[in-house]
Amino acid sequence: MKYATQEDPASAADPSSADTFSETANKEEMSQLNSENGAVSGGSSFPMNNSPQMLSAPTKGMQRPRKVFIKPGHSQLDWMKLSSSGVDLRGVKEPLLLTLEEVAKHNKKDDCWIVINNKVFNITSYLDFHPGGRAQLMRVAGKDGSALFYNTHAWVNVDAMLNKCLVGFLKSKQR
Ligand code: HEM
Repeated sequence: MKYATQEDPASAADPSSADTFSETANKEEMSQLNSENGAVSGGSSFPMNNSPQMLSAPTKGMQRPRKVFIKPGHSQLDWMKLSSSGVDLRGVKEPLLLTLEEVAKHNKKDDCWIVINNKVFNITSYLDFHPGGRAQLMRVAGKDGSALFYNTHAWVNVDAMLNKCLVGFLKSKQR
């Protein structure tokens, strides 16, 4: 299935800026993202480009990458089952107050923290469940991924999905 494309003047802007990922995505970048993610062609797109989610989100007009390959047993339902199973996904005993420097130490696929909205999440377990692929998450490993997250899919309820992955909060001077 070919995704609908719309000419968007914003796509002429600097494509290297992570903060403007969705607005500046061009064919070259999308092709790179697809190959990083092991994208496969075909299949249907959810939500559809003309769905209420896509039309109401700030990503209107975005040229979306194709679906990535997700391992069997790694659907979002499987993630919900795992995260409500009682398995420790945080890796810390109690919520921490952290600096960005401390978060930055956790930037590997077997130890991966990210900041969204001043909350620090241990997403190591979620990497293989992410519908956008592990490579997309690794772009913000050990960093504040808020801008990229909201530019890409503001409709995703990150607090609910990563509730059991909460490690702590950024110290207020970092906010
Ligand atoms: C901040 C860096 C992130 C980037 C660059 C990113 C990128 C993407 C991309 C490109 C897709 C589209 C995949 C497709 O349609 O084939 C996607 C989907 C998705 N991502 Fe992320 N993502 C990020 C963080 C997260 C986080 C932290 C979560 C955890 C809750 C998450 C949850 C999802 C979900 C649930 C979808 C499917 C949404 C839908 O189809 O409506 N993402 N992501």
